[in-house]
Amino acid sequence: MERTLILIKPDGIQRGLVGEVIGRLERKSLKIVGLKMLKIDKETAKEHYAHLVDKPFYPDLEQFMTSHPVIALVVEGKEAVAVVRDMVGPTNATKAPPGTIRGDFSNSTSRNIIHASDSKEVAEQEINRFFKPEELFDYSFSWSNFLKAPDE
Ligand code: PPS
Repeated sequence: MERTLILIKPDGIQRGLVGEVIGRLERKSLKIVGLKMLKIDKETAKEHYAHLVDKPFYPDLEQFMTSHPVIALVVEGKEAVAVVRDMVGPTNATKAPPGTIRGDFSNSTSRNIIHASDSKEVAEQEINRFFKPEELFDYSFSWSNFLKAPDE
């Protein structure tokens, strides 16, 4: 089982796509093991996008990602990193195929709804960046107990 980090970006929240994105992840049998809304500070943005700080678009990216809240999620499942990246689609949403999150809901490279870790190593770093160990949950449902309501 793998874990990966997802951020629903401010445009995803503004456009009311939080439920849509989380629903897609759940329907793919990815298990939510961490979930919260937070505002990213500039220092964390610089760390998270360290490979991009010298790009001309970085000031806009930092402003966009720090001026409004994001939703951070950790999901777990078989090959979760690659599975989620496939569900998200390419960075340039104009080129993202229909059926992917970016392909269905964005036509932009900068306002592209969602961020997802691009490798197992990066996922581990990004999960640690946004979640404390006690904010991640290791749980499973026992169906025999779960299906029977206690008041029946
Ligand atoms: S790159 O260029 O391949 O290293 O980019 P990548 O690692 O895919 O991440 C690019 C992230 O920066 C955001 N962004 C932009 N990318 C390209 N061009 C412009 N103008 C731009 N503006 C913002 C892009 O949405 C990627 O964000 P994440 O959160 O990583 O998906």
